[in-house]
Amino acid sequence: MLSKKDNERLTRVGPGTPMGELMRRYWLPAAFSNQLAADGPPMRVKLLCEKLVAFRDTRGGVGLVDERCPHRTASMYFGRNEECGLRCVYHGWKFDIAGKCVDLPSEPRGSKLANKIGIKAYPCVERGGVVWTYMGAPELAPEFPDLEWTRLPDSHKHVSRHIQECNWLQGFEGGFDTSHLSFLHSGAADHETRAIPSKYEVVPTDFGFVAGTGRELPNGEIMWTANVMLAPFHKIIASVPAGAHVWAPMDDENTMLYSVDFHPDRPMSEAELERSMSYRGIHTQNVPGTDRAIANKDNDYLIDRAQQASGASYTGMKGLGVQDCGIQESMGPISDRSIEHLGVSDTAIIKIRKLLLRALKDHAAGAPLPGMKAASYRVRSAHFKTAKGVPFARDMRSHVDLDGLLAAE
Ligand code: FES
Ligand SMILES: [Fe+2]
Repeated sequence: MLSKKDNERLTRVGPGTPMGELMRRYWLPAAFSNQLAADGPPMRVKLLCEKLVAFRDTRGGVGLVDERCPHRTASMYFGRNEECGLRCVYHGWKFDIAGKCVDLPSEPRGSKLANKIGIKAYPCVERGGVVWTYMGAPELAPEFPDLEWTRLPDSHKHVSRHIQECNWLQGFEGGFDTSHLSFLHSGAADHETRAIPSKYEVVPTDFGFVAGTGRELPNGEIMWTANVMLAPFHKIIASVPAGAHVWAPMDDENTMLYSVDFHPDRPMSEAELERSMSYRGIHTQNVPGTDRAIANKDNDYLIDRAQQASGASYTGMKGLGVQDCGIQESMGPISDRSIEHLGVSDTAIIKIRKLLLRALKDHAAGAPLPGMKAASYRVRSAHFKTAKGVPFARDMRSHVDLDGLLAAE
């Protein structure tokens, strides 16, 4: 359990909140690159409780600006994206991707007003088919994290996103709630049901931690699953193909979850792509033109009670993505962690909270934060065995350290 005060501190992400300000020290995913065409329609983006508009200008650069025009607050979403800038359609004021006012046609010729006017704009980079933005103080911008999946060609990965209608931390914690795999996701069609783990270990690192879930084999060896948590909201999933998630907070009660299947060293096979696109795994089938899953809270996630009763599916919901979304949203828009009862299987969740509370303290004190170096993110998830009695921490590094693995190849 967590005090109500700490629950508030960890979950609220608006400007000026401790967590919102901490999140602004990291690169955040804002959109897919292919959603923005040069001089094409702008799109709405919501991040950390701010309403923004993204557009790609004539030269191919991406702008992410305040939705409100600084003149009389009309929405820039309706703007004209033309000749290297976005023009508000109310009175024609135009801004470039850096937020500079480049035309002010409604004012008298010779007006100096344009020199004083700008629209709030956040810098963007494109990596792995995703537009990422940095919303913090410019002088504190970290290097872009060297996440393996963001460096792969399109053929090696499948990336999707969907909205979770609950707070970001609920989703993030769910990603490290390893014992739920044996329950929530069990059922013939969606997931191979695995034995309930008996060991839970967490090893802190400079980027976050590696969480080990151990299952004892009949010969006494331990089969470990090592999932990786990278500050502030990334996960590398130990699966085949490998997986990744990013829980980007849109506001306090909505999260954009990016989901990735990837192979570090080969293209995805047709069978793997077919599985990704059949929505049995972490991807959801969305209402066309939106980021909302077709199975959502308004239709009880299309729960099939007959499937549930037959045992073919533990939940009666189709696909891991919908099952996670459904159950995490069922905890409320912001779950009340002061009334929980946690067990040993919640070890990684407790660790996430400690790590984030520590990061909030360090941020307030101006101390170093986890994951500020690009190279820290050069890690993989892993499955490996240890002999009886060998601690997870002893062997873990050689299985997750990407540079070590590449050198050994
Ligand atoms: S409100 Fe945008 S130009 Fe006037
Ligand atoms: Fe899950």
